[in-house]
Amino acid sequence: MDKNCIAFVAGTRPEIIKLYPVIKSIDKIGLCYYFIWSGQHYDYNLSKIFFEQFQLHDPHYNLGVGSGTHAEQTAKIMIELEKVLQTLKPALVVAQGDTNTVLAAALTSAKLSIPFAHIEAGARSWNMKMPEEINRRVADAIASIHYASTYLAAINLLFEGIPKRRIHITGSTAVDVVYEFLTKVEKIEEDILAKYGAEPQSYALVTIHRAENTDNPQRLAAIIKALENLARHMPVIFPIHPRTKNTVVKAGLQHNLRDIKLLEPLGYFEFLTLMKNAKVVLTDSGGVQVEAFTLKIPTVTLRYNTEWPETTMYNINVLSGAETERIVRLALRQAERREEVAKLQFRNPLGDGDAGKRIAHHLAEVAESGLTEEEPDLRDTPIIEYRLVTTYPQLDVIDELASFDDDGLPTFKNTSKKIVKIKRKLN
Ligand code: UD1
Ligand code: UDP
Repeated sequence: MDKNCIAFVAGTRPEIIKLYPVIKSIDKIGLCYYFIWSGQHYDYNLSKIFFEQFQLHDPHYNLGVGSGTHAEQTAKIMIELEKVLQTLKPALVVAQGDTNTVLAAALTSAKLSIPFAHIEAGARSWNMKMPEEINRRVADAIASIHYASTYLAAINLLFEGIPKRRIHITGSTAVDVVYEFLTKVEKIEEDILAKYGAEPQSYALVTIHRAENTDNPQRLAAIIKALENLARHMPVIFPIHPRTKNTVVKAGLQHNLRDIKLLEPLGYFEFLTLMKNAKVVLTDSGGVQVEAFTLKIPTVTLRYNTEWPETTMYNINVLSGAETERIVRLALRQAERREEVAKLQFRNPLGDGDAGKRIAHHLAEVAESGLTEEEPDLRDTPIIEYRLVTTYPQLDVIDELASFDDDGLPTFKNTSKKIVKIKRKLN
């Protein structure tokens, strides 16, 4: 195996879409890579359709893990991925986002001492009830390279103690994909709109798949009620994720969707076209918030938090949570703002369309120079950053670089006396 090869690990719809610009640039550079697909998503329209649309070749490995509980799915991916990585021995492992596939990739590579590079590092919703928040926090904690999409994401990482040298601000690769395909879809958009019976700027486009919305029957019912109400004001188009379809049927709510135009999950070009021409977008998706913002389409996020606060700061996205009245009120208000939002002028804080290139070039440099996870010898090189905090008698935070002396005790660079004092107080 070529020791300079890198391994991409992915397993769901958004991961293929957002890795595409990186892989395309890696192809141009000519760096050797493997693409490992976990099989977390397996339906044609959640996986293969994107390989076809982006003309990506089939993954070199498909772990075929399928659906399951979080532990089952994560564990299965780890078990299968470990075997593959032990054979390939890549220079580093790269994954994007916050799915169980990403968690498994981070844990497996870290345990094999293969450096892990995390794309979209530092995105935070501050909601530990979200499976994705757990996944990305763990992935960031053990990653060797953090590609942060935005300045705010980089600040989150610094705040969590990730050393600055590991953080690279790149922009979001989701922005790259939108910019790349905007002109392409212009050529086909008339046909696509006709196919779905959609009049430009007249309809609401909806996606829902978050566990917090689909796994809670009251919450799901409240959102669906809002869609029913909204459909009295404008057509509502809803390409439904299989997870949501299953829970809607289980909760007996399918009849409440009779005035909604329900579609199977769409390919990227079809979905981008529908987003670009929507009057308003309602979503709980991370990627869709970024894309609608980039297209300057007013958005209502069906959540109480977002990993993309810039979208709200620039007055394009509002958070409705999952209350019926609030969703309808905000959707109608946002729809009224369609033209105003389209005219907003600003430099996209989420990216400039070159994130994939930046990441690919950095990955190539790292693969070439051979980053390794070595056991640090802390006698000579003080590389641990300690943050000691005490609240007694007053709040005191000390950032220090420590090494260890001949007796194996920590010596701090600047303020060893202060540390001793604090230690005594804490005792
Ligand atoms: C997963 C990710 C989520 C991401 C989303 C992208 C986790 C914890 N969640 O959520 O972060 O935003 O993908 O869409 O990793 N199913 C099918 N066909 C498939 C795949 C799934 O029918 O091809 C159904 C199964 O009933 C499955 C359910 O959807 O149990 C959930 O799938 P899963 O991959 O566990 O989570 P997602 O909701 O897709
Ligand atoms: N998307 C798509 N077809 C659809 C719905 C979404 O191609 O029917 C794309 C969308 O453009 C975005 C990505 O899927 O790039 C978002 O995926 P998802 O909402 O499943 O996951 P998240 O971004 O929330 O992790």
